[in-house]
Amino acid sequence: IRLTDITAEREKEVLQEKLAHADRLAIVGTLAGGVIHEIRNPLSVITLNLPLLREAGGDEKEEIINDMEEATQRIQNIVKDLLEFVKRDRGVEDVDLKDVVETSLRILSHKLKNVVVECELENVSVSAHRGKLEQVVINIVDNAIWSLNQKYPEMNENKILRVRTYKEGDSAIIEIEDRGIGISEDVRKRIFDPFFTTKDGGTGLGMWVVYNIVKTHGGEILVESKEGEGAKFIITLPTELPLQEL
Ligand SMILES: Nc1ncnc2c1ncn2[C@@H]1O[C@H](COP(=O)(O)OP(=O)(O)O)[C@@H](O)[C@H]1O
Ligand SMILES: [Mg+2]
Repeated sequence: IRLTDITAEREKEVLQEKLAHADRLAIVGTLAGGVIHEIRNPLSVITLNLPLLREAGGDEKEEIINDMEEATQRIQNIVKDLLEFVKRDRGVEDVDLKDVVETSLRILSHKLKNVVVECELENVSVSAHRGKLEQVVINIVDNAIWSLNQKYPEMNENKILRVRTYKEGDSAIIEIEDRGIGISEDVRKRIFDPFFTTKDGGTGLGMWVVYNIVKTHGGEILVESKEGEGAKFIITLPTELPLQEL
């Protein structure tokens, strides 16, 4: 019995790993369109400016070079962020939550263009898997954006996303709050179940992956919501990762 138990456990682990990987790839897939768009703009800045550079002199030349520099930097950042995200995990390291949130928001920047993002980010250091924490923030923010778009299909000043990081005793806290459609009690109960989705074409894996990552970091996740008014996710992480972890 013990043996089959272990096999079942291992099978479950393998399945979980596969699903987490699939979800990661799915996110990269949905990002691809945005990424192409994001890279095309700065790329055309460079392409259009190059011939001008040949003729220009003095101040004008300086300006053109600055624009091109900015554009290359932008492309560099996009590529760097994406690689960071897709790359295999580097294991546990000291991670600054402010950094995690900023990188995650940058990865989603093309989807956040008409969202009012309010950040209150303190530097809080935790020992964690950086890529996995980014995945947590990305998955939650991705749903928040969806919820805001459901409520306000157009640009709207109430399309608000609020993100906070702070320390409380020995805990590090990330709060992600949106003013979207909110979560009904029925959905809230099942939100962390694998394959539970209310979206056409949703995977239902995002929140499940979030839950598992938070748990393997020895943390807790809470969901607060008033239907129709938005949702708030509160993640509490220990600043030191418990010894037995991963
Ligand atoms: N911020 C949110 N506001 C409203 N509903 C949400 C929010 N986050 C998650 N949900 C609900 O939880 C469900 C599960 O989310 P998730 O696991 O990420 O899967 P998916 O995004 O593929 O549907 C979503 O389909 C949605 O109904
Ligand atoms: Mg999702």
